[in-house]
This record gives sequence, structure tokens and C-alpha cells, in this order.
Amino acid sequence: MSLARIFDRYPERRYIMFGGKGGLGKTTFSAATAYYLAKKGYKVLVFSVDPQASLSDIFERDIFGQGAVEIMPNLYAQEIDADRHIKEYQDEIRQKIYDMYGLDEIPEEIESYIQAAAAEPAMEESAIFDQVVDIVLSAEYDYYIYDLVPLGHALYYLSMASVYDEWIDKITKLRQEMEEYSKVASLIKREEETEEDMILKELLDIKYRINTSSGILTDKEKTAFFFVIIPEEMALLDTQKAAGLFAKYQVPLSGYVVNRVIPPELGRQNIPDYLRHRLEMQETYLKRIDELFGDQVLARIPEFERDVTGLPMIERWPRRCLAQSLKPPPPSPRRE
Ligand SMILES: Nc1ncnc2c1ncn2[C@@H]1O[C@H](COP(=O)(O)OP(=O)(O)OP(=O)(O)O)[C@@H](O)[C@H]1O
Ligand SMILES: [Mg+2]
Repeated sequence: MSLARIFDRYPERRYIMFGGKGGLGKTTFSAATAYYLAKKGYKVLVFSVDPQASLSDIFERDIFGQGAVEIMPNLYAQEIDADRHIKEYQDEIRQKIYDMYGLDEIPEEIESYIQAAAAEPAMEESAIFDQVVDIVLSAEYDYYIYDLVPLGHALYYLSMASVYDEWIDKITKLRQEMEEYSKVASLIKREEETEEDMILKELLDIKYRINTSSGILTDKEKTAFFFVIIPEEMALLDTQKAAGLFAKYQVPLSGYVVNRVIPPELGRQNIPDYLRHRLEMQETYLKRIDELFGDQVLARIPEFERDVTGLPMIERWPRRCLAQSLKPPPPSPRRE
């Protein structure tokens, strides 16, 4: 099995995610996979949900907050600007208050509430979440590659989706019941849409968006989730723990990729003890990885002599783990 073969075999898995501990290579794998799929002729968007996004670094271009930027033919990259989205969201709320209550000006105490709410850390996360929903629902690309934040955080998004969902379920039900009662009570056929109707509609819309985006994350037909690991003890332990949690949220796992493998052939050369020890240690963990994950291990990527930045460097990456398959692309999985 190789990483490339997963894409060949399951062309309907259009949402690709690389998860794992901080700094192991999630962004690099995301960018390299995006490059590979774009070269194969698919239209690909790789996007970052990380406020400290590093797609700008790897593509050596400032793309922050600029929407989807074309990096090369078929390859688009996007870094979400949460702050701007929060501002737009505040404006939207103000507009709704104007429309619903027919006011010319937002009352001072409501304005200060809107300001205070924007400073909440949860606001940034829900702003990002909201943008992600917009992106994945856009249906403009063949592939969507999520450049994820480190483990704990990605799980937080998933749990947040299910908490939101339950909360909205409760409120929606309550409101629907209230509406039934009020209809019976008044027995008046209403012609105009009431404020209640509008709120209910809004809630149902939020619910639809949350369900659709978290539904994608847990849809094994459409989603490929890969864990990035390195041959070191702590990384392995954390990954095993995380794999358990992801399973709990029913994220479908497509496999593991091993990054930063010191080339074992170095062992045949005259090398310092320091490096020899590292190689021995690595050997132990590579074996453990194979025992633990077997044929779910899809790639081994060497430790390069420098950081992976710029397209020529990214191009070297797929040659090692993705280029096993250079067949012509199967029919586009995009459904128009
Ligand atoms: N095989 C490799 N050889 C050399 N450098 C690498 C390799 N893989 C990743 N790097 C470098 O390691 C650094 C971290 O990689 P990357 O940003 O992809 O990790 P990440 O998992 O996305 O990190 P974060 O959790 O902070 O988002 C980058 O500078 C990258 O260029
Ligand atoms: Mg990253």
C-alpha cells in the first residue's frame, strides 16, 4: 500500500486530513498531497484552520486572509483570517437587529455586548468553524485538504460540533413546541413571518451547516484521515491515545504516514556514535510502528537536510511517497 494508491482506489474520498501531534509534518504532508493531486489534474484546495497557519511559509507566499490563492494551475491555498470573519459576523448581527426591530441605531448596551462577545476566545474558534463550513460546502474543488491543528485541537472541533448540535437540537425543539402552542392559542392564520419564525429558521440553518460539516469529517465514503507519526516513543504513545479518541468520534482512519526517518543506509557509513544511537533507537520504533499498524502504514519519509519550503522542495516530497502511481487520472470525482 502507498499513500498514492489510497487516492487512486478511493477517488470519492475528497476530504483529506493529516492529523497528529504538533510539528511532526501535518502542514508539509497537506501541501505535498495537494501538489501531487493538482499535478494529476485535479482541482485542489488546501486550507488552514490554524491561526498560526504555516501554508504561507511552505508556499513562500503571504496568503493570509486573501481567500483561495492560486499557487500553480489547479492548486489553491487558503489561510482563514478569523478576525476579519468576526468583524463580518458582528456586522451581520447589527444588520439583523436593524431589520428585526426596525431600529436606526444599535442601543449602547447591545453594542457593548456585541463588542465583548467578539473578544471571547470561543468566538475565534466558531468563526473559523463557520468559514470551514462555507469552504467545504462550496463544491468548487475536486479535493479539499484540511491543514489541521495539533491533535487535541482537532478533537476539540469535533466535540464542539456535537455539543453545538445537541444544544441547537434542544432549542429548536423548544421553539417548535412553543410555536405549535401559540398557533393553537391564537387560532389566527398568520400572514407575516414572525420574529419567532425567523429565529427558528436561523437555528435550523446553523444546525444544517454544523451537521453537514461534521458529517463530512465522519463520513468514511468521502473522507480520508491520516495520522502523521515519527519514529519516537512519545509520538507513538500520543498517537495511540489519539487514535482511540478519534475512533470515539467515528473519524474514519485511512492510514499512518511516518515522517522524519533518518536514512538507515547511513548506518553503513562511518558515522559518529551520536547518529548511530539515533539510528538504533529509530530502528526499534520503526519495528514497533510496523507491529502496531501493519499495512496501515502508507509511507516513510526521510528526514531532509533542511526545512521543506517552496515548490521545488515540495516536489521532491511526492516523488518519495506519492509518485508510485503515475497512471492517468481516473474520471473526476467532482459531481456537478
Ligand atoms: N521530513 C522532513 N525533513 C525535514 N524537515 C521537515 C520534514 N518534515 C517536516 N519538516 C519541517 O518541520 C517543520 C514542521 O513541519 P510542519 O509545519 O509540516 O508540521 P505540523 O505538524 O504542521 O506543525 P504544527 O503542529 O505546528 O502545525 C517545518 O519547518 C517543516 O519544513
Ligand atoms: Mg501545521
